[in-house]
Amino acid sequence: MFGGKGGLGKTTFSAAVGYYLAQQGHKVLVFSVDPQASLSDIFQKNIFGKGPVQIMDNLYAQEIDADQRIKAYQDEIRQKIRDMYGFKDLPEEVETYIAAASAEPAMEESAIFDAVVDIVVAGDYDYYIYDLVPLGHALYYLSMATVYDAWIEKITTLREQMREYDQVAAHLQRDEAMDEDAILGELLYIKDRIQASSRILTDRERTAFFFVLVPEEMIILDTLKAAELFSRFKVPMSGYVLNRVLPEELKTQEIPEFLRHRLENQEHHLARIRETFGNQVLAQVPEFERDITGLPMISRVAEFLCK
Ligand SMILES: Nc1ncnc2c1ncn2[C@@H]1O[C@H](COP(=O)(O)OP(=O)(O)OP(=O)(O)O)[C@@H](O)[C@H]1O
Ligand SMILES: [Mg+2]
Repeated sequence: MFGGKGGLGKTTFSAAVGYYLAQQGHKVLVFSVDPQASLSDIFQKNIFGKGPVQIMDNLYAQEIDADQRIKAYQDEIRQKIRDMYGFKDLPEEVETYIAAASAEPAMEESAIFDAVVDIVVAGDYDYYIYDLVPLGHALYYLSMATVYDAWIEKITTLREQMREYDQVAAHLQRDEAMDEDAILGELLYIKDRIQASSRILTDRERTAFFFVLVPEEMIILDTLKAAELFSRFKVPMSGYVLNRVLPEELKTQEIPEFLRHRLENQEHHLARIRETFGNQVLAQVPEFERDITGLPMISRVAEFLCK
């Protein structure tokens, strides 16, 4: 997993590491839940919401369409309520409730989280590269225990709210109370899945988390704070990767004053980074002459990242 503030190079590095591992003969999936479809941009192929799409030998990329997932999720909930209560059609209040529940932000996160669990638990690949959204949000996905609690809370609340319909249903359809086992079964199923993926995501032997940073004052400070938070969630931190480093050799060349200033500034930040993160900085990638799209550019990044 690559984490970091917005726009520092998470998607770029995810693609580059995916490319490298695929070239080494491993079957790799690079995936994201980013609605901005950045993987489509970097691989120059529209893959949004299309499931795993092959990019080259051994390399697959997938962009989860959150809206589509939410819709599928709602349909699933509708079906479950229908089945559990024996309704043919759902009463309007239930429809309204489902619509309202899905509008809350946690619903989106649950649906996305569910999609990620699906991918990780299926185990179809040798390597999974999770191209994360910017920090704050990513923390939410990764904080399994919290998400798990939120889930149980959600389901329990839903169960309570459904009690009302339970009574209506009992009147309409049958006399016995609702089948508690169906709900318990659902809870246990969810718990199992979350624990399975949580085990994978927090297992140091199997999972590595890298922070992307660039030589800038604010980014160094924010990364320090975020690293602290992440370690509290037992995210297996493996190190830092430095991006967009202006080549030092520029200094010996005839360069404009503006660039000289930038280089001096950078030197100062690089020293600070060495001091703060030391040998936890595992790789350094230079600023390229253009943005990173397409496999030839991706392979140039991989050369620095994976050497
Ligand atoms: N070393 C580099 N040299 C030149 N351009 C770069 C480099 N690294 C990244 N970029 C460019 O910077 C932009 C942002 O990179 P990227 O999309 O990988 O960031 P991100 O961390 O995934 O952003 P977000 O938080 O929005 O998901 C892209 O246009 C990318 O091509
Ligand atoms: Mg990105």
